[in-house]
Amino acid sequence: MIATIALPRLMRIGANASSELGSILSQLGLSRPLIVTDSYLTESGRTEKLLDSLDKSKITPRIFSGAVPDPTVASIEAGLAFLHAADHDCIVGFGGGSSIDSAKAIAVLAVHGGSISGYKTPHIQDSPGLPLIAIPTTAGTGSEATRFTIVTDETTDEKMLCAGLGYLPIAALIDYELTLTMPKRLTADTGLDALTHALEAYVSKRANPFSDGAALQAMRAIAPNLRRAFADPSDRSAREGLMLGATWAGIAFSNSSVALVHGMARPIGAHFQVPQGFAIAMLLPAVTAFTAPTVVERYANAARAMGVASENDGSQSAVAKLLGELVVLNRDLEVPTPKVYGINDNEWTSLLETMATQALASGSPANNPRVPTPDEIQQLYRQAWA
Ligand SMILES: [Fe+2]
Repeated sequence: MIATIALPRLMRIGANASSELGSILSQLGLSRPLIVTDSYLTESGRTEKLLDSLDKSKITPRIFSGAVPDPTVASIEAGLAFLHAADHDCIVGFGGGSSIDSAKAIAVLAVHGGSISGYKTPHIQDSPGLPLIAIPTTAGTGSEATRFTIVTDETTDEKMLCAGLGYLPIAALIDYELTLTMPKRLTADTGLDALTHALEAYVSKRANPFSDGAALQAMRAIAPNLRRAFADPSDRSAREGLMLGATWAGIAFSNSSVALVHGMARPIGAHFQVPQGFAIAMLLPAVTAFTAPTVVERYANAARAMGVASENDGSQSAVAKLLGELVVLNRDLEVPTPKVYGINDNEWTSLLETMATQALASGSPANNPRVPTPDEIQQLYRQAWA
């Protein structure tokens, strides 16, 4: 099998890497950036470090601060209109996954035109848009290193996956200092999302030796640091580990895939407005238990990489420890079940069939080593309920 591997051309990783934005743009021959971010980051002054850096390089950016959580078609169009009001040669995506995903969509539309709805999979957008520099402020989505963006069609609530090299940032500045102010809840949800990227990329049918290396490295970096960063948000070494792990995990799934957990989480997000990281965490223990018997060796390796099993543990014992750890991890990081989260019991039950259909239609479950039937997906939703 030949694996196709795609990565950002340039990454700068470490404390204060984001203050090198000006020099990165100069290195890439770019000088007229549009910064795409959200209103919280601009209003709280979090863009200052970037602006100082650009100022030193004599670059004056414009800022579009209209990125929204779960970017919509309308929010992308607003960003595109803002871009067209001046002459830009590149886009900087600054923020959580939503800001970076917005920047990706705007960058492609700026060059290729049309509406983002016309770009959803199975269309593959390999031809590049405007050069994109990604600067994540959360340690989770890995969007800075992936060839995907997700935009919600607000008229149908459909989360449209858009894929291709056109969405891969040309450069990423990975600065864990930006994550020190992340609240506990966001730290846990984004961290569990990243851990899930690594686990799913590793067991996916599309896994390959390169993505395996990235996935295991992500698990090694994320697992020992999640509880630490949750307990003490200012723990710099835990933040550094999580940030690096999230980027490794992004590299892993961008070059392999996500699988059943992500496929099942999207409908929960769409129907019940549950943040993506939350929905993923709610499902991870039950779905992993469902999949584990099919790929025991893989999950045993994952357990060892995460440090929850040792080399002396046999594979079955290592997998049992992993399954136990995922349950305890959710408890320690205060992840609620859908029931505890406050989802209406009747609504949940009445939507199970629809959610199962939508999960399967997303294509992600087909990458799972054990592909569930619609009934099995409903059963998994029921298991995750309480
Ligand atoms: Fe994710």
